[in-house]
Amino acid sequence: MKELVIEALRIGWPLFALLAGLFVYSIVSGKDAAAKKSAMFKLFIGTLGACLLLLAIAHYKGSFYEANRMLPVSLVLITAMCFMLGIYFPNHAALLKIGGFMFLVAAGLSGYGNWLPQVEGGFPPKEEKLQYEAMTAQQLADEGEKIIFGGIGKNKEQGAVGKGQCPLCHAFHAGMLGERAPNLQGLPARAAKERIEDPKYSKGNPKGRVYDDKEAFPGAGTAENGQEYIAESHACPSCYVVEGYGVKGTNDKSSPMPAIHKPPISLTLQELAAVDTWLYLREGADAPSYDEIIKSYEKFIPEADRPKAQEDKPAGAGGSLLVDGTEPIDVIFSKATCAMCHTIPGIPGAVGKQGPVLEEGTNAPNRIKDPTYKGTAHNTQEYIMESIVSPSTYVVKGFPDNLMPKEFGTKLSAGALKKIVDYLSQVKAGAPPPKTS
Ligand code: HEC
Ligand code: HEC
Repeated sequence: MKELVIEALRIGWPLFALLAGLFVYSIVSGKDAAAKKSAMFKLFIGTLGACLLLLAIAHYKGSFYEANRMLPVSLVLITAMCFMLGIYFPNHAALLKIGGFMFLVAAGLSGYGNWLPQVEGGFPPKEEKLQYEAMTAQQLADEGEKIIFGGIGKNKEQGAVGKGQCPLCHAFHAGMLGERAPNLQGLPARAAKERIEDPKYSKGNPKGRVYDDKEAFPGAGTAENGQEYIAESHACPSCYVVEGYGVKGTNDKSSPMPAIHKPPISLTLQELAAVDTWLYLREGADAPSYDEIIKSYEKFIPEADRPKAQEDKPAGAGGSLLVDGTEPIDVIFSKATCAMCHTIPGIPGAVGKQGPVLEEGTNAPNRIKDPTYKGTAHNTQEYIMESIVSPSTYVVKGFPDNLMPKEFGTKLSAGALKKIVDYLSQVKAGAPPPKTS
């Protein structure tokens, strides 16, 4: 509501300025007290009508494309506005009343459709297919910013994270410290000048590489220019590990960064091109063309590993599993990326802060008791299961919705899910953590 009012003021300030002018004029020019009074009354009604109209417009702007239950309210606002303006402009009162009446009918109809209990399911809203290849560099960069931070202009907002999840680990501005990963300020210049010239990088000489990267595949470690280095960093983080940022105990030979084209992040090459374009443009640098960026990724990501755009995936296809359930529980938590966002007592390295501490033996019963809980879980095990396969069913207070990935239901084997549920249900606040084996 607050944003709505601000947006209304933003759109409507010229109108308000005009009304203020009229106000002054009506006071100055009014002949007698009665005329002044009636002018003031009309102005009051006019202002009220204008406010309602602007609120309705602001609301439309924000939610026109989403199914929105506020639509009838908007229409009622416009109706009220029409009738008020009818008083303001008596000459056109009849017309305004007819208009108002039509909006009232529309409000009634849309209210009937929107407020009746909705049938769940039906067709999922089809995501608008973005034509990355047809975009200008600036449009690409905007898409990139959305992928990294969740919205245009959010890059300086503390805690803004998009589906790319980069800000969970990286800082992007000078002076901001990322403890877990290098600050990406200045990356394009650094990639071209320092990184691939580093003797440890062994440019063009895979045999000379000092990294025993498990994920390396033919072609890794051979970036020839800055863009290729960036593509390689995203597709094969362990191909070159920035000094001091490797997984502890691996002597900087293994990177904690997930390969960005693989689950759970799974950005497509097109999305990666958008991300990279933003990385260049926001520094005032020229980005390589869309085709050049795509080519750089094709060099490092074999055809079979390229994630398909959402629209092309057959329904229900989940892609490969993150874990098959044979792994020990601590490996499951780290491979499935839970540890990146959650602190999990008893699991080394699980110190994430983006989500709640997973003391589900204590938390789950409280969540189910919460009057705002609308899920279907009746016990701790069911609650944990529901939180994993359908994170938005109940959003823990103080944490954002839509941050926890929604595809775990298709990315974890049944065995892995069972192990996770067993472990988390035994974690209680203030008690020693359960055994990991
Ligand atoms: C789980 C934490 C994590 C996430 C999420 C993550 N990174 Fe990283 N990233 C790292 C770490 C740690 C390094 C340093 C080690 C290395 O070189 O691989 C790194 C290195 C990099 C580098 C090389 C930096 C340099 O100075 O050479 C780039 C580029 C990069 N990340 C981009 C990204 C982008 C873009 C995203 C999001 C799409 C992302 N990262 C997501 C942890 C992460
Ligand atoms: C990108 C960050 C992120 C990742 C990765 C992630 N989560 Fe979450 N998780 C969250 C956030 C944020 C919340 C709180 C908001 C909500 O309830 O959806 C949450 C909530 C939960 C809850 C409910 C906690 C409570 O006390 O009610 C459980 C259980 C959970 N996550 C388990 C997992 C498991 C298991 C994994 C790995 C398979 C995982 N999460 C991966 C961010 C993440």
